[in-house]
Amino acid sequence: MTTPPSAAPFRFPVAARYAGMESSPLKDIFALAAREDVVSFAGGIPDPELFALEDVTACYDWVLAHQGHRALQYGVSEGELELREQAARRVSRDLPTDASQIRVTSGSQEGLFVLAQALLEPGDVVLVESPTYLAAVQAFSVHGARMIGVDTDDDGVIPEALEEAIRTHHPRMVYLIPTFQNPTGRTMPVERRQAVAEVLARTDVPLVEDDPYGALSFTGHTWAPIAALPGMGERTILLNSMSKLMSPGVRIGWMRAEGPVLDTLAVAKAAISMQSSVVDQLMVARYLETVDLDAHVARVSAVYRERRDAMSAAIAPVLPAGAHVTRPEGGMFLWAALGEGYDAQEMLAAAVEAGVAYLPGWSFFADHADRSTMRLSFVTHSPAVIEDAVARLGEVIAAHRA
Ligand SMILES: Cc1ncc(COP(=O)(O)O)c(C=O)c1O
Repeated sequence: MTTPPSAAPFRFPVAARYAGMESSPLKDIFALAAREDVVSFAGGIPDPELFALEDVTACYDWVLAHQGHRALQYGVSEGELELREQAARRVSRDLPTDASQIRVTSGSQEGLFVLAQALLEPGDVVLVESPTYLAAVQAFSVHGARMIGVDTDDDGVIPEALEEAIRTHHPRMVYLIPTFQNPTGRTMPVERRQAVAEVLARTDVPLVEDDPYGALSFTGHTWAPIAALPGMGERTILLNSMSKLMSPGVRIGWMRAEGPVLDTLAVAKAAISMQSSVVDQLMVARYLETVDLDAHVARVSAVYRERRDAMSAAIAPVLPAGAHVTRPEGGMFLWAALGEGYDAQEMLAAAVEAGVAYLPGWSFFADHADRSTMRLSFVTHSPAVIEDAVARLGEVIAAHRA
């Protein structure tokens, strides 16, 4: 049978939860980042020149030479024991943890999806920072959850606003990124963490604490997660990832939790992907055992810090009066709110035309978006490239001056 020439091409019917999502915001970011004529500050893309390629190669070689048959075989949904032990060792610096409390994931993104599938019913409310990490919003919303943004200030989520939102919306859980947050780069000070923990304990709402950036500190100071505060370990799922510390391509992260939820997370993980790649898990375990990850992260952070300095210095003079910009003490992102009269989404085409891209901030808000905001990642380019591109961005901002 032949298709009549006038017939419309077959279109696969898609689930309502993915309708209208033909292009995800992240896909658009990666497309922008790939254009050679554009300096992109849009993605949170580590500088590949800083990858520990020799060490990673040596660890893969060792695994294939010594554990080859096992590395190429199916594994267990919980994750390979060696990796869970190494993960537990790292987490235990702040919060006593053993290997049985770790669930390995293929990056934190899968962790968010796994826990959303395991914990959320359609219609459940998840309280998030305003703004928050957009792909977490996506992982939760495809499971039917309703995201509600809670007000933040320079120290992160505001405890009183959180408590009020809990009383009003009865959320299933709260999702926070307390350290070097994506997208703002902000960090929640210790007193604020304590106040937030008190609210969560008092109202009995579980916490999902996402911490992929915490080790990327520019000052040497690191923050213990909220999960490490008294009484919070049992009511928090803490997510860590190797993506920003070692390599995003390897796709290894983990969740730390306590109690019966660990079994549910393992069942959900098995339903979604059986297990994470065994060869990659064993390579990361070997890396954590034999290579000084902290020394590597310190080297990377020193480079990122110079780039943060370059971007902070370059952007301040080109922002309009009344604009607000963060100066992160770690991580990858700087967040600028241009203020009334500016629409960063509308300005983007002109910026790309001028050879510079950023991520418009509106997509990071669950509700009540501030459209004058933009996220700029400072980690991918050298200070000279940053200075030049931010100057061009400045011309675009000036041309859009309200
Ligand atoms: C806050 C946050 N959570 C999770 C992720 C997912 O990272 P990965 O899946 O590479 O670990 C990212 C990546 O940018 C992130 O910024």
